[in-house]
Amino acid sequence: MGRTAELLFCVMGLVKMDAPNVKRIYADNCATTVVSEAALAAMMPYFRECFGNPSAIYSYGQEAKKALEGSRRAVADALGALNNEIYFTSGGTEGDNWALYSACELRAKKGRHIITSAIEHKAVLGTLEKMRSRGFEVTVLQPDSRGQITAAQLSAALRCDTVLVSIMLANNVAGTVLPVKELCAAAHEAGALFHTDAVQAAAHIPVNVRELGVDMLSISAHKFHGPKGVGALFCRLPLVPSPYITGGGQEKGQRAGTENVSGVVGMAAALSEGVRDMAANTAHIQALRAALVEQTLKIPGAFLTGDPERRLPGHASFVFEGVKHSAYVITMLNEAGICASSGSACSASSKEAPHVLTALGYADDIARSAVRISLSHYNTAEEIDIINEKLPRIISEVRAKKETLV
Ligand SMILES: Cc1ncc(COP(=O)(O)O)c(C=O)c1O
Repeated sequence: MGRTAELLFCVMGLVKMDAPNVKRIYADNCATTVVSEAALAAMMPYFRECFGNPSAIYSYGQEAKKALEGSRRAVADALGALNNEIYFTSGGTEGDNWALYSACELRAKKGRHIITSAIEHKAVLGTLEKMRSRGFEVTVLQPDSRGQITAAQLSAALRCDTVLVSIMLANNVAGTVLPVKELCAAAHEAGALFHTDAVQAAAHIPVNVRELGVDMLSISAHKFHGPKGVGALFCRLPLVPSPYITGGGQEKGQRAGTENVSGVVGMAAALSEGVRDMAANTAHIQALRAALVEQTLKIPGAFLTGDPERRLPGHASFVFEGVKHSAYVITMLNEAGICASSGSACSASSKEAPHVLTALGYADDIARSAVRISLSHYNTAEEIDIINEKLPRIISEVRAKKETLV
């Protein structure tokens, strides 16, 4: 058995289902979110009533096409973009991959140097690793202890052969919101394109592509109460992303494959709803998070990671001295009916310390204790009271445990 499989097996062995009478509290909204009622209602007709292929010229097809284009307009409006600057994708991973490949291809004559940050999602870092093997040079900027990268830091790394800078708008592990507007201005001064991964930001903090000045921006519906497996890539005109998935002529010939009509409709509804309700949702979520952070930091040896001020409204992430691995805490929270995660959804059962936290300067052993609690407007004050009551006891029990993960 390989190391990863071994660890996964070991962690799965720890997981016990919560008792049937335990009310579940969902507090892992950076991993994914429940589909909102508005998004679900908007999607439903496109499964059985208007199920046509948008490329077909009969009425079923044209109804689907109309829904697709209406959704494109709604997504563009929500992001401050033009309709024909929005391309539908299968989610954040595809949007990030597509943006990076496109930028490198479009600027191939200018050079082969790319700049990114050490705290990007693997959808960016993994793609850039591939670009490295294709002869690109990749400079990785290190953040400060709060997860911030400055424009001055970026300017110092920019070169005349830099084709692309990709730095995220909000970090999934530390919750930090980065100064993308300033970073983008610095990149443009050096003639480089700027892509930002806004997967954790869209519908949670204001995201306007014109204000930010970015050339490319990726979002994912399931992070803002839309369905899974659908997202969008913004690409500023006259820039057009190069075909990455080839086949039919969908998405103006730039992205082949029959469109996920119901998914796109659900995404547009969820994004419009999220943007419309952002102020009220933010006030509610921030109050809940403040209560959670205040209580959790009373646990001796507990620390908040990321930027305490410039961070996503519902994001709280902690490390705990004396906790050997967050999987122990996550499994005990699960038994208590509370769904939280380690640093990120992708590293939930990994033995490796989350790369974001080591980049912020945490030693591996403390980084491995990271617990992320991410809230949405569906969470209540009563739920936070329950988390505040259970978490200190769980941390004490985990600290007293003798055994370690493989
Ligand atoms: C910052 C960030 N980028 C990209 C992704 C990937 O998005 P998707 O799950 O839609 O592929 C995620 C998902 O966790 C993320 O948090």
